[in-house]
Amino acid sequence: MIVTVTPNPVLDRTLTVPRILFDEVTRATEVRLDWGGKGFNVSRALKALGVESTAMGFVGGATGQMLERGLQELGIATEFVHIAGETRSNIIVREAQSARYIKVNEAGPTVQADEVQRFLKQAAGRARQGDIWVLAGSLPPGVPADFYARLIALLRERGAKAFLDTSGEPLRLGCAARPTLVKPNALEAAQVTGREIASQAEAFDAVARLLDLGIEMVALSLGGDGLLLASSEEAVWARPPAVAVRNPTGAGDALLAGIIWALGQGLALEDVARWGVAAGTASAMGEGVSVGTRAEVEALYKGVGIERNRQIGRLVDW
Ligand SMILES: Nc1ncnc2c1ncn2[C@@H]1O[C@H](COP(=O)(O)OP(=O)(O)OP(=O)(O)O)[C@@H](O)[C@H]1O
Ligand SMILES: [Mg+2]
Repeated sequence: MIVTVTPNPVLDRTLTVPRILFDEVTRATEVRLDWGGKGFNVSRALKALGVESTAMGFVGGATGQMLERGLQELGIATEFVHIAGETRSNIIVREAQSARYIKVNEAGPTVQADEVQRFLKQAAGRARQGDIWVLAGSLPPGVPADFYARLIALLRERGAKAFLDTSGEPLRLGCAARPTLVKPNALEAAQVTGREIASQAEAFDAVARLLDLGIEMVALSLGGDGLLLASSEEAVWARPPAVAVRNPTGAGDALLAGIIWALGQGLALEDVARWGVAAGTASAMGEGVSVGTRAEVEALYKGVGIERNRQIGRLVDW
């Protein structure tokens, strides 16, 4: 059983107009709604690989209902905590010819303390031995920075596995609570270790430091440089094939889905890294926050390059 948690969801509303004009009424030629949220992206990418998941998080108001219905229409089960505030929406006005745009992001509702408690209670009642919980994205106003850390502790007590993908303070506190897996990019890893990553040796150093916290598996994603995936026993570096990238936003979420799928197949670390990179790269090649089809991911899988290093402790020996 896989659960994805998106505490801070958003409805992205993209209006395409012929030209962006000020102080005039412009008619949209196209309206597009996207259900935004890192956990939802993981659910969508898992679905493309044939894996079911349940989406959890906080939703509220009419926008929350639309989001819930939208996910269900994609075939993703939802078990949200309904909050008093209205789920935020972002407005994107996009010019058809130039592809230039204006994007306005809402801050989003403040989640109340009793709503946070309701979520934790629901999670405690739902967590089962061996389940994977993906904790992904930022936290909305009102949700304390140690929310993921508390959730990780609660999941561990029940034998469920937490896979963490967030940034800043929630990531730092979350890592200290020892999730089963953490997936930072280079910037996020530096927020935990306090050291920048600008070389291969520094990437290894960051991964070693995260493993030292007691995290079982670290997936350090490095954009076009691929993925450094490590456990305390071994490390592999997987590199994507040369491809035309359209939009890398959300590629990290797809990568996480690829890793989850491959772990579920019981594959070796090297193949887990390969599937992760293939899924991430497929997403980076698509328009918008997209996920690749199973066939696209499989085709890319064959082109992923692998370098191995069993001596993760001895960083310079790469
Ligand atoms: N320019 C690129 N070329 C090829 N593959 C890419 C590129 N950018 C991303 N990818 C693929 O996607 C994976 C994840 O990308 P990245 O490290 O940028 O994630 P991220 O920063 O977490 O992104 P997000 O949070 O927006 O999902 C990479 O490991 C790689 O497989
Ligand atoms: Mg990311």
